[in-house]
Amino acid sequence: MNFHILTLFPDMVMNGLNTSIIGRAVNAGLLSIEAVNIRDYAFNKHQSVDDYPYGGGAGMLMQAEPVYLAYEAVTEKIRRREADGQTTSIPQEVPDGQAAVVSQTSPVEKKPRVVYLSPQGDVFSQKMAEELSREEDLILLCGHYEGIDERVLEEIVTDYVSIGDYVLTGGELPAMVMVDAISRLVPGVLHNDVSAEFESFQDNLLEYPQYSRPEEWHGKKVPPVLLSGHHANIEKWRREQSIIRTYERRPDLFEKCELTKKEEKWFQEWRDNSAI
Ligand code: ADE
Repeated sequence: MNFHILTLFPDMVMNGLNTSIIGRAVNAGLLSIEAVNIRDYAFNKHQSVDDYPYGGGAGMLMQAEPVYLAYEAVTEKIRRREADGQTTSIPQEVPDGQAAVVSQTSPVEKKPRVVYLSPQGDVFSQKMAEELSREEDLILLCGHYEGIDERVLEEIVTDYVSIGDYVLTGGELPAMVMVDAISRLVPGVLHNDVSAEFESFQDNLLEYPQYSRPEEWHGKKVPPVLLSGHHANIEKWRREQSIIRTYERRPDLFEKCELTKKEEKWFQEWRDNSAI
């Protein structure tokens, strides 16, 4: 998968994404991340990219043209890559659960999705991350100052995405959040594909608590079932802990999770007992 981030602060984005799991996946050719400096597409000698808003008001706006030229440069690059039949590394699932890198070219020219990071967008979610992880190219547009001239947004943006109901100084941190959450769903990025499947938000349940050595720390013991080696009991305990945790910490998610009849009965009993 290829991320193209249009920004005035390319170093901020690249420095934040070149380490750990994402950095490794880039080095392995499973992902590519490029930050395109919108300022390189300024059309005046001072390389300024902002101007006063018509009608007055506080702050400056990013102008339409540099954003559009940066966008065109990226789409042209994608078009050329596809026309050349140049292969991109598309990881495909193979039966043993590993990921293999398979060459693929796109026969039909498809416009890449362009996400504008904005507090006015749909709130980013795991479901959205899953959907976007199936794109081959994703363009993320980061605004600054008071935003971007509406006309270029109308022309190029396909999705407006917010990472939460608070206002940040720019779209770079939200773009990094999205790249991280999407990348880890691309097959092969997490070596253990199971871990992307069985963690928080799958089934609308939060992840169960986890423990590592030593068996006792600050007088707290690891729950005995985890030392029992009995896999079925461990699975059952973990599922129950997930249910309890979701009920206690995220009642909004708990409303949406589906329990089996047996789990509902167990949960009823647990709640009656814990209310005493
Ligand atoms: N830009 C500024 N604040 C933002 C937010 N909460 N989400 C996405 N982009 C933003």
